[in-house]
Amino acid sequence: MDKRVALVPGEQTFQARIDAEEKIEPKDWMPEKYRQNLIRQISQHAHSEVIGEQPEGNWITRAPSLERKAILMAKVQDEAGHGLYLYAATETLGITREELIDRLHTGASKYASIFNYPSLTWADIGAIGWLVDSAAIVNQVSLQNTSYGPYARAMVRICKEESFHQRQGYNIMMTLMNGSQVQRDMAQDALDRWWWPSLMMFGPHDGESAHSAQSMKWKIKRRSNDDLRQQFVDQAVQQAEAIGLVVPDPDLQWDDARGHYDFGAIDWEEFERVISGNGPCNRQRLAHHKRAHREGAWVREAMAVHEAKQRLSNEDVA
Ligand code: 3HC
Repeated sequence: MDKRVALVPGEQTFQARIDAEEKIEPKDWMPEKYRQNLIRQISQHAHSEVIGEQPEGNWITRAPSLERKAILMAKVQDEAGHGLYLYAATETLGITREELIDRLHTGASKYASIFNYPSLTWADIGAIGWLVDSAAIVNQVSLQNTSYGPYARAMVRICKEESFHQRQGYNIMMTLMNGSQVQRDMAQDALDRWWWPSLMMFGPHDGESAHSAQSMKWKIKRRSNDDLRQQFVDQAVQQAEAIGLVVPDPDLQWDDARGHYDFGAIDWEEFERVISGNGPCNRQRLAHHKRAHREGAWVREAMAVHEAKQRLSNEDVA
């Protein structure tokens, strides 16, 4: 007997499947709001992966060694692949790539706030790899158990590659902290600028989150924003201290009773400014993406002609 709950369209049956930890697949019945929530979250995740290539891509031509250049190129290439997996997962929900890109360009769709900050020095590449990819790993490991099959499976592959991203970033910070005073100061300056925006990556506090309650009920989200943020802080503080970096939070304090770090207040006004398009680099990031999309149109057109010809020749032989 197929252990999956009998499929009778309707919210209750759907919820019973979710509660039974079944994976929802593209052809399964799902509430329209579940579909729309997934399109929202997965597409914004995909946009984040692609836009996130910009701050790091800025340093490929300026990497301090051939080895660092090769590692950074590999990481940026990985991020493009993550974006493709996630766009492909979103398209299984019945939306086209063109619509998704249009939503990004019109601002109807967001991408991670963190990528609207400038990468000013080489140490920023270390801070991004170490902090941003650590935060992404904490979030994405939990998403490996998300209820939508294609999203969960994309996460398994992405998490494996993120571990390399995080290690290379932390290795840059460790190398700088073992260097000259100028290099140590550069690493500390990068931590000072990337610490708080990294905490914002996990979204608003649970009580302020517009989507968390429903996303948790549908097991799109498996852990809350604050729960994931706390795990990130607990591990990142120890990593910072291990290489002599000082976390820029005077309220940071280990709480023995809780077994976690207490930390200071996040500047949610800054967060709201950045996610509403008024961060330091929002305009550049979108302008760059629009230009690249325009300049790449000929590749998409050539592929479309090739695919049409392929279909015709397949029909001829059929
Ligand atoms: N940046 C931009 N927007 C954010 C945000 C952030 N850091 N945090 C929250 N928001 C937005 C939400 O999208 C939502 O707006 P919307 O209704 O227009 O979509 C609003 O703020 C309210 O937030 P909620 O907490 O209610 O939203 P969610 O339940 O979707 O939670 C999230 C936000 C935790 C980011 C969740 O969407 C999620 O887990 N997404 C998947 C992971 C992801 O997208 N990570 C982005 C980074 S990818 C990355 O770092 C790549 C790495 O390789 C470098």
